[in-house]
Amino acid sequence: MTEWKKSGWRAKPRVQMPDYTDQAKLEAVEAQLSKYPPLVFAGEARKLKKALGAASRGDAFLLQGGDCAEAFDQFSANAIRDTFKVMLQMAMVLTFGAKVPVVKVGRMAGQFAKPRSAPTEVIDGVELPSYRGDIINELAFTPEARIPDPAKMLQAYTQAAATLNLLRAFSTGGYADVHQVHQWTLGFTDREEAEKYRDMANRIGDTLDFMKAAGLDSDREPSLQTVDFYTSHESLLLEYEEALTRQDSTSGKWLAGSGHMIWIGDRTRQPDGAHVEFARGVLNPIGLKCGPTTTAEDLKVLMAKLNPENEAGKLTLIARFGAGKVGEHLPRLIKTVAEEGANVTWVCDPMHGNTIKSSTGYKTRPFDLVLREVREFFAIHNAEGTVPGGVHFEMTGQDVTECTGGVRAVSEENLSDRYHTACDPRLNASQSLELAFLVAEELTSRREAQVAAKAG
Ligand code: PEP
Ligand code: CO
Repeated sequence: MTEWKKSGWRAKPRVQMPDYTDQAKLEAVEAQLSKYPPLVFAGEARKLKKALGAASRGDAFLLQGGDCAEAFDQFSANAIRDTFKVMLQMAMVLTFGAKVPVVKVGRMAGQFAKPRSAPTEVIDGVELPSYRGDIINELAFTPEARIPDPAKMLQAYTQAAATLNLLRAFSTGGYADVHQVHQWTLGFTDREEAEKYRDMANRIGDTLDFMKAAGLDSDREPSLQTVDFYTSHESLLLEYEEALTRQDSTSGKWLAGSGHMIWIGDRTRQPDGAHVEFARGVLNPIGLKCGPTTTAEDLKVLMAKLNPENEAGKLTLIARFGAGKVGEHLPRLIKTVAEEGANVTWVCDPMHGNTIKSSTGYKTRPFDLVLREVREFFAIHNAEGTVPGGVHFEMTGQDVTECTGGVRAVSEENLSDRYHTACDPRLNASQSLELAFLVAEELTSRREAQVAAKAG
């Protein structure tokens, strides 16, 4: 394979990227971003890679979640805190089910650029370029708003830096201390999943009391007081990614400094395309979305390019087929992975294959389909003897009404109440926690089946 350069993607065919009209402005922004500090460090990316390697073997479980698209006008400390808090709660629930550490990765602090199914959008006979995320253009339906503006990269960087700063403070400053497990209850005291969560929090509290009585001081145990929380986003806007790429002084390797993990979307995974070319050269863990159109031939080339040394934890395959379609696609790709002897971490994204248009016109995702895809993912891994390594959700800590269903049933008529997403519909806090309990049940039965098989 040819030697890699951070600008090498420029010579490859690109899709889903804006055509900036003002080249001078673009270059000025790139020059400025190149001087800014990276947002993450190589040692952190390596630590995440190791954790994802454990997930590939079933010794850890990945929880990746956050907005479909972060938005400038929804940027607030409370929104960051609430999503972080729900992820901690979900992680706690999953740890209980899986009995292994949960690797927490936000779709946060960089998830700004969006691939679109069509280059233009028509409303009432007016056709304009599609919205591509706040880092590129604006959601408002006017010709000016839809012009890609390079300066938005600087605003995205600033928001990502401030988000990450707050996440780091929450992770290590006491907020994530397991002794706070009772304080993490959101405002949903009357709900069924809150009751289950409180029971679990009580059991954790009892365990901590027991440890203390037995002379083990959990107050001093750093692993109970802080969490490792990582960031991730789709590596779509390659001018931004390249400008934040830095050489790691210890290893001489290249780091995508924009986030701990980056992934390649379902629409940009052409083996000879620009996005794969960029991702193949950085030391970060890489995610690759796998959809119904992913062929065995492409997957072979992609695995060789994206994980040339076949490291555990380097490549995460994020399966997003849609409920009812997992059985048709996952086994054939699992076979390809086995044929190549490739190390991968299998993760289920039950969101992107289950987007529908509601009768009221809103893009939505029925909770039942989301759950069904997760169950199919587990069933197939159980049957194939392979490892379900994690889940990937579009979710928020806010009480939005974007996905239908769940115990506090959001109906199609309710969608308009609090539909705030700039792009795809997200699970709200209650739906997210409910789903975590259901995934934990899958993990528990899998573990029990393994124990029984060993004993038998
Ligand atoms: C996404 O994760 O928001 C996304 C666009 O996913 P996919 O590439 O799988 O469609
Ligand atoms: Co999305």
